[in-house]
Amino acid sequence: MQPQAYLDLENQYGAHNYKPLDVILTRGQGVWVWDVNGKKYLDCLAAYSAVNQGHCHPKIMAAMIEQAKRLTLTSRAFRNDQLGPFYQEICELTHSHKVLPMNSGAEAVETVIKAVRKWSYQVKGIPADQAEIIVCANNFHGRTITIVGFSTDPTARSGFGPFTPGFKVVPFGDAAALEAAITPNTAGFLVEPIQGEAGVIIPPAGYLKAAREICDRHHVVLILDEIQTGLGRTGRLLAEAHEDIEADLTLVGKALSGGFYPVSAVLSNKAVLDVLQPGEHGSTFGGNPLACAIARTAMRVLTEEKMIENAAEMGDYFLAGLKQIQSPSIKEVRGRGLMIAMELVPEAGGARAFCYRLADKGMLCKETHENTIRFAPPLVITKDEVTWALEQIDAVMRG
Ligand SMILES: Cc1ncc(COP(=O)(O)O)c(C=O)c1O
Repeated sequence: MQPQAYLDLENQYGAHNYKPLDVILTRGQGVWVWDVNGKKYLDCLAAYSAVNQGHCHPKIMAAMIEQAKRLTLTSRAFRNDQLGPFYQEICELTHSHKVLPMNSGAEAVETVIKAVRKWSYQVKGIPADQAEIIVCANNFHGRTITIVGFSTDPTARSGFGPFTPGFKVVPFGDAAALEAAITPNTAGFLVEPIQGEAGVIIPPAGYLKAAREICDRHHVVLILDEIQTGLGRTGRLLAEAHEDIEADLTLVGKALSGGFYPVSAVLSNKAVLDVLQPGEHGSTFGGNPLACAIARTAMRVLTEEKMIENAAEMGDYFLAGLKQIQSPSIKEVRGRGLMIAMELVPEAGGARAFCYRLADKGMLCKETHENTIRFAPPLVITKDEVTWALEQIDAVMRG
């Protein structure tokens, strides 16, 4: 089939809820992907950080195939022999006490909202149906009605109301605004440690530490959405480690499966998850044996193969290299670990055109909003590969 035929099929039969680059991929290995014409690209998006371990990691693949041959789905009506070991391993890895497995990131967010609301009524004593959760401007937590209801991005929310009440929005990075927004009915504060979809927005140093302290003082649950920042992306297992804090509840997803399968989880350091009783929450696929077997290996290779350390080292090298590039089109370069963004000046004509020029040179990047290009390759990238990437970016930015 010719490339255009794939585009035509998508356009004719698919909903147009994405605007992908017109590159049709058919194969991936490590940091590399190949299109249907055989052209090779360095994947600098890593499926929005779901492929931290690299495409088609052989050990994760082997675990998936082995488990798929034995047992894939039991539902939670019965127990399975992968769930308990998965619980133990993820709790040991992240120093959590309890875990609730789901599938997509958005489901983990929905789950945490339910759990925190119930906790706030049962434990904190907020009057029924009065719980408030504070979120940040420019957040991205997923696409359900409740979640887009507390988004501040008009594209994400326009036309989808009415929305779920009970959320308050404060500016990101402003600890004083958080404290000012807290009332006796505040149950939780939900925040991304670094705002990924907003364009890799890093809050001022000390913000998360201040948020931790404010939440403690007001008996408010601190919920960190580490679905994108987590599992090594920023050079630490969880981004909370950069400020030496621990959230009460942490959300992980994406790279929890190394890109093989949708697996997400709510991790709890407090008794919040204990408020959920049988029948109050669940998902047919959540915690299935195939997901658990994949996630167990995806977590194992992350640490065994020192991918987190590599993310820290390669991230520093990548960022330093980007900062050397001289171009009037560049407004700012910022990042932590391998979560990096280059923001262009508005006069540069938009990030998408640059993404196409990078694709011509063999690098796949995606714009976020109008003017920002994100660089977030799999964490297995080598120094030679980063050097090569920097050469391509330099050529495009100067060109
Ligand atoms: C911080 C954050 N939370 C939640 C989500 C939603 O995850 P999913 O697309 O798996 O529902 C994303 C996805 O990009 C994300 O970056």
